[in-house]
Amino acid sequence: MHLASQSVLIALSFALADAAILDSTSQAPQLDWDTITPSRDLEYNDCYDGYKCARLEVPLDWTNSTDTRTAVIAIAKLPAVVSDDDPSFGGSIFVNPGGPGASGVSFVLSDGHDLQQYVDKPGRRHYEIFSWDPRGIGRTTPSSNCFRSDVVSRSAWQVEARGNGGLDKGIDSIKYGLALSKALSQRCKDSEKQWGDGMAFVNTPSVARDMVEMVDKVDELRKREGASKAEDDPRQELRKRTEEDDVPRLQYIGFSYGTALGNYFASLYPGRVGRMVLDGVVHADDYANGPGWLTNLHDTDEILEEFWRGCHQAGPSICTLATDSDASPSEIKTRFWSWVADLDDVPIPALSSSGTIVVITGDDIRKLVGSSLYNPIRTFKLLATTLHEAMKGNTTELVSNLMKFGHLPNLDTVCSDNNSTKPAAMIPESQSAVICGDGDDITDKDAGWWSKYVQRLMSKSKLFGSYWSNIRFSCSSWPFRPNLSFKGPFTTPKAHPNLVAGHPAAPLLFLSPRLDPVTPLNSARAMAANHPGAAVVVQESMGHCVIGTAPSDCTKNIVADYFESGTVPSEEVTCKTQCGPWDDNCSGYSPEAASTDEFASWQFQGNPLLFRQ
Ligand SMILES: *[C@@H]1O[C@H](CO)[C@@H](O)[C@H](O)[C@H]1NC(C)=O
Ligand SMILES: *[C@@H]1O[C@H](CO)[C@@H](O)[C@H](O)[C@H]1NC(C)=O
Ligand SMILES: *[C@@H]1O[C@H](CO)[C@@H](O)[C@H](O)[C@H]1NC(C)=O
Ligand SMILES: *[C@@H]1O[C@H](CO)[C@@H](O)[C@H](O)[C@H]1NC(C)=O
Ligand SMILES: *[C@@H]1O[C@H](CO)[C@@H](O)[C@H](O)[C@H]1NC(C)=O
Ligand SMILES: *[C@@H]1O[C@H](CO)[C@@H](O)[C@H](O)[C@H]1NC(C)=O
Repeated sequence: MHLASQSVLIALSFALADAAILDSTSQAPQLDWDTITPSRDLEYNDCYDGYKCARLEVPLDWTNSTDTRTAVIAIAKLPAVVSDDDPSFGGSIFVNPGGPGASGVSFVLSDGHDLQQYVDKPGRRHYEIFSWDPRGIGRTTPSSNCFRSDVVSRSAWQVEARGNGGLDKGIDSIKYGLALSKALSQRCKDSEKQWGDGMAFVNTPSVARDMVEMVDKVDELRKREGASKAEDDPRQELRKRTEEDDVPRLQYIGFSYGTALGNYFASLYPGRVGRMVLDGVVHADDYANGPGWLTNLHDTDEILEEFWRGCHQAGPSICTLATDSDASPSEIKTRFWSWVADLDDVPIPALSSSGTIVVITGDDIRKLVGSSLYNPIRTFKLLATTLHEAMKGNTTELVSNLMKFGHLPNLDTVCSDNNSTKPAAMIPESQSAVICGDGDDITDKDAGWWSKYVQRLMSKSKLFGSYWSNIRFSCSSWPFRPNLSFKGPFTTPKAHPNLVAGHPAAPLLFLSPRLDPVTPLNSARAMAANHPGAAVVVQESMGHCVIGTAPSDCTKNIVADYFESGTVPSEEVTCKTQCGPWDDNCSGYSPEAASTDEFASWQFQGNPLLFRQ
């Protein structure tokens, strides 16, 4: 399993270059979702290879019952390996990969099998893995997309933004960026006029409400099918009676931004929580309030220190950045930063493999290294080689990896993709629509305010601070405000395993690596402290999220036990992992890791809080 992430910000990302990604991640056959008729009740169709897909109609505006407009949610599930009436059937586990802006359908197609193996207990418990494209995203309609099929205009905007460089370059770059944001805002307003309003209805409280609806619809369908299948089954009477005592409840795993979504859900609908695992934990108060996004980078630079340490210890045969004459890790570190400072001063001219002109600055290197910290096991050795080659003057791999991580626009496909009806992979505006709608309104801030904001983030992380500031910068002119909003408190009443209305059925289970580049352990602890009985599992690993970034039977057993019994450890526990980024026995950890092009299979597609395994 692997993970990608990082967001598409207004300024710096080119995530959608590959419009085919939505379906290509899974190697599954393509599906034309228009052939599925939307319905108010859940109606599954066979799709892809062994999956079930549905399009569920929900009110666009949950706050206004006289408004008849609808959103149509694209849903995909991987069925359990046993039938629904098997005694070991454990129900649906909803999953969200983060982003925001990432497609849950793509996630379940690419990672459903791995996730199912992670939670299933063979012969005892078997789950179906259920996901959906949240509002505004992917195949769900209406789509938050200000460019539609006009891929050329989108790329032009992104190239313009890239040329402006990092926001840490000074006040001029901030002013230029503000103008770009205003222009985008105009484009989005025009697009909403033409295509209908959607962007005010995509923020997290609306998505949480959709989840309640989906949980109910899943339950209704199961009862309908159970009733027709088991009319003569004497157990049926008993089953009905217990069901009347309770409402359908959510079983959930949220990654990264998906932990914020889970926290909103639990805080708004605590009586609907069955099981909830939150992996790679976002500080929900910081996400929803104030300037925002200030807590993420607490441990980022510490992981970079671990990179130097590990590289030095592994030596030049494994980490090509090291030399035999290095007395300590700091010599590698010094060489790196002095090279980056040179690039800040004098950028390198380069060409992509197809001949596109690329100018590489220090900003690109910081972004690439920052992206790599999301998954050390998968990327550290390759990162070392890429940097080493570039420092020697060969930028081939560097340019290709910048493109793969979504930091460079892939202009090769722009013309062939223009006016195409293929869904784009990761759309910056669908991410902004969620982030800006959830956060406080910051559209009145001037360049001076933004300059301080950028400095604040730079002081948290020299490596990733400037890049990170683009996330909230994408809201600097965002023109839509939602009516359905939630600012906390992010808390739940005490859990009751015997199902008491208004209370979770089990405490929440939080997972965090020891060092996470964008959702630090201290956020997991802070969030857990507000949910009575919740536990934090600290996995002794680095990377973004736990599941899928490092193998640990210890963590896996705690999670599988939790889904079965609802119990969490009584205090914070730590779990060891079976191998690390510099070991030679770790690369076989996931099926994808065997692929020849590891960076390619790990697509960091411009989403800051996306975990893709
Ligand atoms: C609710 O929706 C109706 C129908 O679209 C609209 O006329 C009305 O103004 C809306 N009410 C509010 C409070 O937005
Ligand atoms: C790209 O597609 C858009 C939308 O159909 C169209 O308006 C525009 O002219 C196209 N641009 C090019 C360069 O083909
Ligand atoms: C640069 O690196 C690429 C990929 O690693 C390699 O194919 C190429 O031969 C190298 N170029 C030179 C001039 O060494
Ligand atoms: C875009 O595609 C539509 C439908 O396929 C077609 O009618 C239209 O002429 C195309 N526009 C351009 C600018 O190619
Ligand atoms: C929010 O509600 C107000 C009235 O309460 C209404 O005028 C406005 O149109 C609503 N906004 C959206 C995005 O629905
Ligand atoms: C992998 O190698 C490391 C270092 O040699 C060792 O500590 C670890 O136990 C090994 N893990 C597995 C799963 O073999």
